[in-house]
Amino acid sequence: MDLTTTSVNMKDFGIELKDVQQAHERVKRHTKITPVMDFDYFDNKVSCKLYFKCELFQKTGSFKFRGAINSVSKLVEKEAPTDNVTVVTHSSGNHGQAVALAAKLCHVKAHIVMPSNAPTCKVNGVKGYGATVIHCFPSERAREEEADKVIKETNGCFIHSSQSLDVIAGQGTIGLELLEQVADLDAIVAPVGGGGMLSGICIAAKSIKPSIKVYAAEPINADDCARSMKAHKLLPNEKTPDTVADGLRVSVGPVTWPILHKLLDDVIVVSEEEILDNLRLMLEKTKLLIEPSSAVGVAAVRSSRFNHLIQEQNLKKVGVVLCGGNIDISKLKAILK
Ligand SMILES: Cc1ncc(COP(=O)(O)O)c(C=O)c1O
Repeated sequence: MDLTTTSVNMKDFGIELKDVQQAHERVKRHTKITPVMDFDYFDNKVSCKLYFKCELFQKTGSFKFRGAINSVSKLVEKEAPTDNVTVVTHSSGNHGQAVALAAKLCHVKAHIVMPSNAPTCKVNGVKGYGATVIHCFPSERAREEEADKVIKETNGCFIHSSQSLDVIAGQGTIGLELLEQVADLDAIVAPVGGGGMLSGICIAAKSIKPSIKVYAAEPINADDCARSMKAHKLLPNEKTPDTVADGLRVSVGPVTWPILHKLLDDVIVVSEEEILDNLRLMLEKTKLLIEPSSAVGVAAVRSSRFNHLIQEQNLKKVGVVLCGGNIDISKLKAILK
């Protein structure tokens, strides 16, 4: 999409740069400033310089902690004393772990609804942070229904993994941080599931540097964002997508859609084979163990479609968000073969 970003009023979205900056002030005592890494191997293979933002080193092993700690901290600021505060969410894992740790740090209770096919390492992570896990059938609807039940039972406060403005503002701190670390980036590429991370990045990065391009990376088997952008209307996945990138099985929703529709420059879709090839490649060439959702972004920047964008848009420096590193070690053998 050819967009004159300066003409977009971020206030229309109910969230703007100052919300991301306030989130940054709120969360910075808890979050890590994750490193940005570059590798000769990729610089020689892709015709632009790639800067990998390593959110796999964020607390809980993914960027999700940024949005979760922003939401829970803000809630606790409003609700003190916190003795009776309970937070509830549904999550395939990373958001659940993030909310569980945020709740622990803010001294509130957490109940996390998780689909029965969630990776074991993520379920154990949530339990390890002291939250209560409730298992449900692996569908969007079952997750929502179970979470509604838990909210009623606990009088809990729901924290959506992507359709919450406080979560989006927290995720946007990736964009703030990345532009401080590499000021002259021409583009940022990040995977899209519900779109919380990309919405926050778009708001932050395009407010600071209106000329920057932001691209989504998505599994072809969960291509709701690509289809929606093409049709200019929200077209969620009809069934739970069959993709190894478990963090990207959710669809863009009503809060993130208007932001992405206006601000996103393009969506690059990648196959299951490309996801696994790039997961293996990252381990071999960079020694970074990323989860499949992160490999979606790597696959996107190595695709012929992105090579075309590099030439067309004259991209010289590109940030790639390695969004998480939570992978079941027991499944690694099968993935690596
Ligand atoms: C590792 C990882 N990357 C990307 C995403 C997608 O994030 P969002 O739903 O904000 O688009 C998720 C969501 O769970 C995730 O766990």
